[in-house]
Amino acid sequence: MPRERDILRATLAALTVAALAAAPDASAQETSDDRVTVWDGIYTAAQAERGRAVYESSCAACHGPDLDGTSEARPLAGERFMQDWSEDNLDNLFGRIQRLMPYDDPGSLDEGEYVDSLAYILQFNGFPAGDSELAADRIAGIRVEGKDGPGPVPSFALVQVVGCLTAAESGDWTLTSSTRAVRARDPAASSPDELAVLDAQPLGDRTFELMSAYPDPAQHAGHKMEAKGFLIRNPAGDRINLSSLEMVAERCGP
Ligand code: HEC
Repeated sequence: MPRERDILRATLAALTVAALAAAPDASAQETSDDRVTVWDGIYTAAQAERGRAVYESSCAACHGPDLDGTSEARPLAGERFMQDWSEDNLDNLFGRIQRLMPYDDPGSLDEGEYVDSLAYILQFNGFPAGDSELAADRIAGIRVEGKDGPGPVPSFALVQVVGCLTAAESGDWTLTSSTRAVRARDPAASSPDELAVLDAQPLGDRTFELMSAYPDPAQHAGHKMEAKGFLIRNPAGDRINLSSLEMVAERCGP
């Protein structure tokens, strides 16, 4: 019944728009139609089964048989997984595993084994299996997010924002007209090339109070700045406990 299907499709589209409007941190990039997420069946059940064997022989000793962590290493499942990885690209997680794990023998597995172990972690976290296997060259750009779609980066995550350095009435430094917070994996300032890319991107409408701004950044007042640090969500205004503050341009705004 095509008519009914059309109505259903229109309703779904309207719901999607409503859901996106309700998620203020969703960026345009994240909401385009071709985005792929961990909910799209991105690995197969057989692959996750192979990954379980990899996990049990190469990961479980430190991360626990049920991915719930040990005194050696953090949990890789449940709330902790979402705290660490939601609102990020899956290739950041994969890159970490491939470069740094197993902690006592990094890089010792072959690429396929790393991909399979990731498939197992995804399955354990309740993300559905699908028809085609996950491959290393297809991981880029896949988003990790909750069932309800994109949401804000969680509190205490390491983030990056770009905005205008402005003194608040309280005397505290803030970034105004700032982009929304996105996850960062490196606490250090971006390279000059990366800063040039950031400069070309539009600012936003967020304000963040900056904590631990040493040395006093007064010389950069009114400049466009990149801030990285730990996000502290606060009803009175979100804050960033700085790990770096770097000039993007000697001006700010349009
Ligand atoms: C010898 C112990 C050990 C083994 C084996 C091990 N890990 Fe880890 N893993 C760690 C430690 C230590 C850390 C860093 C501190 C923490 O997360 O608690 C870590 C961190 C991680 C992280 C988080 C990385 C980050 O940057 O946030 C992931 C994901 C991970 N391990 C996955 C794996 C996978 C998958 C395997 C198997 C292929 C594995 N680990 C094997 C000890 C281990």
